Amino acid sequence: MNVTSHTPNDKADAAQESREAINPWDIEPPSPELLGNPIEFLFVEHNRQRQAANILHLVADGEVNKAGVKKLIDFLETDFAVHVADEELCFFPLLLQHCPPEDNIDKLIERLADEHKKDEATVTGMMSMLNDVLAGEKFNDKASRTIRGFAEHILQHLALENAVLLPIARARLDDKALCALSDMMKERRLGS
Ligand SMILES: [Fe+2]
Ligand SMILES: [Fe+2]
Repeated sequence: MNVTSHTPNDKADAAQESREAINPWDIEPPSPELLGNPIEFLFVEHNRQRQAANILHLVADGEVNKAGVKKLIDFLETDFAVHVADEELCFFPLLLQHCPPEDNIDKLIERLADEHKKDEATVTGMMSMLNDVLAGEKFNDKASRTIRGFAEHILQHLALENAVLLPIARARLDDKALCALSDMMKERRLGS
């Protein structure tokens, strides 16, 4: 199989870099206008997750910016959770349908779904720590390690998806599948 390697989205990367230069506590707004191109939309959501991981690192280092932490909590409870639902309920099933056995996509999806499950449990446990930061409390080394570990995990998960999963999707999903994916992702947002 000839899977095209990922081409960096220069525009998205440049926008991300300039935002990080302006405010490291920021997460750029979502890009609903990209829902017609669902793989690109998922890629841009991964960039936003990278920004969330940057904030988690700042928090783990003991830095405090209440507006930034509020934005992080909101992101984890809404867009991050919706992204996982997009992947688990729409994207992964379409890939399982369209990829031939030699792609071994089932093993990769099993691993990613398992990581999502662990993420969900970590986010639930981490919320009280982040709310403690908002309340002006300092957390202990264990909490700091949990937050840093989650940030590292998000980064490795999205790197795997960008490097392996998205290129396979670009190669295997036809226009009909991409339209179905786009429609399902739009419907999820209309319902929320
Ligand atoms: Fe994922
Ligand atoms: Fe993802």
